[in-house]
Amino acid sequence: MAVSTVAKKLDAHTVRADFPIFEQEIHGKPLAFLDSAASSQKPRQMMEAMTAFYSTSYANVHRGVYVLAERATAALEGAREKVRVLLNAPDVREIVFVRNATEAINLVAYSWGMNNLGPGDLVVVTELEHHSNFVPWQYVAGKTGAKLAMIPLDDQGELDLSTLDSIAAKGNVKVVATNQVSNSLGTINPVERLATWAHEQGGIFVLDAAQSAPHMTVDVQALGADFVAISGHKMCGPSGVGALWGRGSLLSRMEPFLTGGHMINSVRLDKTTWGDLPHKFEAGTAPMAEAVGFGAAIDYLNAVGFDAIAAHEHELAAYALGRMSEIPGITLYGPPAERRAGIVSFNIDGIHPHDVAQILDMNGVAIRAGHHCCQPLMQKLGVAATNRASFYLYTVQEEIDQLVDGLATVRKVFA
Ligand SMILES: Cc1ncc(COP(=O)(O)O)c(C=O)c1O
Repeated sequence: MAVSTVAKKLDAHTVRADFPIFEQEIHGKPLAFLDSAASSQKPRQMMEAMTAFYSTSYANVHRGVYVLAERATAALEGAREKVRVLLNAPDVREIVFVRNATEAINLVAYSWGMNNLGPGDLVVVTELEHHSNFVPWQYVAGKTGAKLAMIPLDDQGELDLSTLDSIAAKGNVKVVATNQVSNSLGTINPVERLATWAHEQGGIFVLDAAQSAPHMTVDVQALGADFVAISGHKMCGPSGVGALWGRGSLLSRMEPFLTGGHMINSVRLDKTTWGDLPHKFEAGTAPMAEAVGFGAAIDYLNAVGFDAIAAHEHELAAYALGRMSEIPGITLYGPPAERRAGIVSFNIDGIHPHDVAQILDMNGVAIRAGHHCCQPLMQKLGVAATNRASFYLYTVQEEIDQLVDGLATVRKVFA
């Protein structure tokens, strides 16, 4: 089993006490941090694990035979095992540490795509993708002569799967790459169905789980994915570390992405051979302390329970949509609460999102305003930008009330 499935209710006020960032005021107001989709805040337990690693066990990994090097190696490999369990991956050698989800997807796009794509082939993405799961595919398709196709959205911001047959008629579907949760609209996508379709077409299925792994159980075997990308910083871990899971049979046939130290088996003047998995894909010094922090963050999330986190966020999304729908002149984007994660994107008639966000900041409310690295989606919505409020395990209802009050101030200022 990937994570705890104990159905317990999350007490966000108790959870929040583990996050020192909330011990301050912003502009004299309590901090309402509603930007967790960009990056999450950090629990004390995660930071303490990193400090303990630096204080007691720090050295470069794998190469040393002395005590500290062995401790550091055990800590890094222990973190890798925690990621394996998190994702229910069959083999720990299939977990590659990277800097973030973006790097994980680039690794697949280059190392798999450059050798497996060509004219007549199709890479299928969706109109909901973050640029991280769009631009690498667009680039590699352009380099290899493959074409890019998009699964469109319907009016509710959900994927229109009735288009799949017509997409398949355009070429050989070699890759289907989609997120599990949209960072802009919060849409939860039918990824098992898309994985099945990708395989029926003879393609691979690449899952961008950057926005789902922090909030729900992601089981790579149950989903039927071939590659899964996650970022530590979105799930209570430090910045600078993420993970790629890849099916061993695919990873072992792929060329390396980065070359240099650590990723080799032997280096001769005439030829270099690659190391075993996962080291073939981990050139240079690993993000050691970051991986330790990532492991501690996974422990923290498991202790709270992913089912409890998902239920809490659904509750907050429903509450926010209910309260915000009463605001005059508001446009709310995306599906109904029961089919979305804790993300609410909106616009207020005649007020630029940056102005909204700036006035909210004066009220202690941190939201994001912009295109959220989803320009194709913004084009579809017919806007340049939206406001986005996003929730996590430490978000309390009072923060949403503070947002709604702040939006009343915004409307007064611009009346
Ligand atoms: C859905 C999704 N994919 C990918 C990314 C990229 O994550 P990172 O910047 O950590 O690589 C993000 C970040 O916002 C995201 O929300």
